[in-house]
Amino acid sequence: MNILIIGSGGREHALGWKLKQSPLCDRLFFAPGNAGTAQIGENLDLAIEPVNTRNADAIDFFCRHNNVGLVVIGPEDPLVAGLADRLKHKSRAVFGPGAAAARIEGDKAWSKQLMRSVAVPTSEARIFRDPGAALAFAEHHETPVVVKAAGLAKGKGVIVTSNAGEAADAVRRIMIDREFGDAGDAVVIEERQTGQEVSVLALVDGRNIYMLDTTQDHKQAFEGDEGPNTGGMGAYCPTPLMTDELMSQVESEILVPTVDALYRDGITYRGVLYAGLMLTPGGPKVIEFNCRFGDPEIQALLPRLKGDLAELMLATAEGRLDQVELDWDRRACCCVVIASEGYPGPYEKGRVIEGLDQAAAEPEVVIFHAGTATDRSGQVVTAGGRVLNVCALGDDLRQARDRANAACGKVHFEGAWYRRDIGHRVM
Ligand code: AMP
Ligand code: GLY
Repeated sequence: MNILIIGSGGREHALGWKLKQSPLCDRLFFAPGNAGTAQIGENLDLAIEPVNTRNADAIDFFCRHNNVGLVVIGPEDPLVAGLADRLKHKSRAVFGPGAAAARIEGDKAWSKQLMRSVAVPTSEARIFRDPGAALAFAEHHETPVVVKAAGLAKGKGVIVTSNAGEAADAVRRIMIDREFGDAGDAVVIEERQTGQEVSVLALVDGRNIYMLDTTQDHKQAFEGDEGPNTGGMGAYCPTPLMTDELMSQVESEILVPTVDALYRDGITYRGVLYAGLMLTPGGPKVIEFNCRFGDPEIQALLPRLKGDLAELMLATAEGRLDQVELDWDRRACCCVVIASEGYPGPYEKGRVIEGLDQAAAEPEVVIFHAGTATDRSGQVVTAGGRVLNVCALGDDLRQARDRANAACGKVHFEGAWYRRDIGHRVM
């Protein structure tokens, strides 16, 4: 079977790296991919954004003529826009939910209502479509809130505030200045929680739920979890913060009711359901649902996954997850993100990256490319804010992190930086 992966980040490189190890995988394609994916498969020049009839037809045409038996859709934008629905075919499996199910990430107002309808633990929230009403509420609210653009905003539409003035300001930015465009047609204003954040990723085949091992991501830019929010500066797994007891609580109080509620509404969720949780003094609460693998969480998980990812993805897409068994390497994995100078703000692209081979030769290290490209002379250059994901296995988290950091030290490009303290919260 040939496999096509949609996307161009570290998540997609890592998925491809694991899929390539499957005896089921023949040729591996990426659309559009990056410099790293080009080394393990074939990058295609197919437009994936925006998802429209013409672009979806071109991908479908490619799949038909190249015997693609599995399409894996990595990012949320094409999922929310319905690419999975358009590519589904009787002789082809698609990993990733259709638009109706992906709405769980694409529309935070809807998702909040869904959680409320089945009493899934989450912050108390108000939903506003009228800017005046939202402002009046924010200006007079006593306790700290988080203001969220309801639609997709490239991970930037969430503003954590400390007082009424900041909350009103956030409403203005989202609904009046329209900083995130149409994503700000509605806002969710919710009570601010405190606690550790963990990511729970579960495969869902419509009815069956298969929880992956536990991970924690570090979203803040700087060491000590300081500075602005990013897409994630590193992740590690497993995390001792999630005990077996907490995992079963999350399964029974959060995942099962959510998947059942969707099912009752006629929505078959097939793909990965990512619950971003905060471990509050009152128990785990859902901060967000995502319809895709966490990035960089999955980069930290996959080196520990034993078994056949292609089979697992087919089983998810075909509704037979109850027939598969998975196992995890007992060692820890740490993934460190090397970022461009200036990220998460504006940054320059096209800086030449050196030392990749030396870094990859470090013990138990695997490097996934996130924002890279190959320039005209064949050199690997930076092409994004998060550039590389350096992952290492170790007998414990400290060893895994030391190995990842040592490998990071061998990679050079102008302005490169990374956090050396991934996993510090549990060390
Ligand atoms: P999201 O895009 O929903 O994951 O939000 C981005 C980040 O904002 C999360 O990782 C949290 O750190 C923070 N956040 C979101 N909702 C809340 C909340 N209710 N309380 C505290 N922090 C939050
Ligand atoms: N690492 C956070 C996310 O994928 O949303």
